[in-house]
Amino acid sequence: MSSSQLTVRGLAAGYHGFQVLQGLDLDVPPGITVVLGPNGAGKTTLLKALAGLLPREGEAVLDGVALPSGEATACVRKGLALVAEGRQLFPQMTVTENLELGAWLSPPRLRNERLARAFEDFPRLKERASQLAGTMSGGEQQMVAVARAMMSGPRLLMLDEPSLGLAPRMVDELLAIVRRIAAQGVTVLMVEQNVRKALQAADRGYVLERGKIVASGEARALLDSDAIRKAYLGVA
Ligand SMILES: Nc1ncnc2c1ncn2[C@@H]1O[C@H](COP(=O)(O)OP(=O)(O)OP(=O)(O)O)[C@@H](O)[C@H]1O
Ligand SMILES: [Mg+2]
Repeated sequence: MSSSQLTVRGLAAGYHGFQVLQGLDLDVPPGITVVLGPNGAGKTTLLKALAGLLPREGEAVLDGVALPSGEATACVRKGLALVAEGRQLFPQMTVTENLELGAWLSPPRLRNERLARAFEDFPRLKERASQLAGTMSGGEQQMVAVARAMMSGPRLLMLDEPSLGLAPRMVDELLAIVRRIAAQGVTVLMVEQNVRKALQAADRGYVLERGKIVASGEARALLDSDAIRKAYLGVA
């Protein structure tokens, strides 16, 4: 089992001269790290900057190898996968076709191995292998998106609000899958609005507000902290 580690130093990113993130330092060890924070804090910007979908300043190093700025394909080759906000499946293609696209950079042999693995890990998708992705339920579509990201064989899986719009039971099922992925040795960095459930599933957390880290630590400690309880869990 691998144990991948992401180290980020002085990360800055934004849009057309509007700086959103200013000098972030993050340590993402093996296991699950969750990023919390209010709307507009810069959580999605952070994941996009790490995935090479946005140019950035600063260092991002995965297992000793620098991730290049603004080069999404190179980042995938270096072991990083992102499940973006809103899933972005191909609705007119089948589940299997969507999954196969996740392995577009991998040789056919690996593609077939990973597809078999995906159907083992996500039995619900195996039952629906030839269904059009656009006709799946919201929760099923989110599973397709996660399974598709796993098809590239990542060492670091990033998820942007995977539980958005899902019923509580589906949220639990999805977080259980994420835990299983982490237990298989894939390091996870996840943005979540579902603060309590995310901290219960995660090992560590960061809180991002207005582009800056305002708190970080063990997930359990964050769950018990007064500041988090007041700001995010509605506890007076
Ligand atoms: N393409 C863009 N062009 C210009 N500004 C953008 C763009 N995308 C995001 N922003 C701005 O960057 C800031 C951070 O946005 P971001 O999407 O990273 O926040 P977030 O923490 O993911 O919020 P949410 O919880 O609502 O998803 C916001 O002020 C937003 O308006
Ligand atoms: Mg976002």
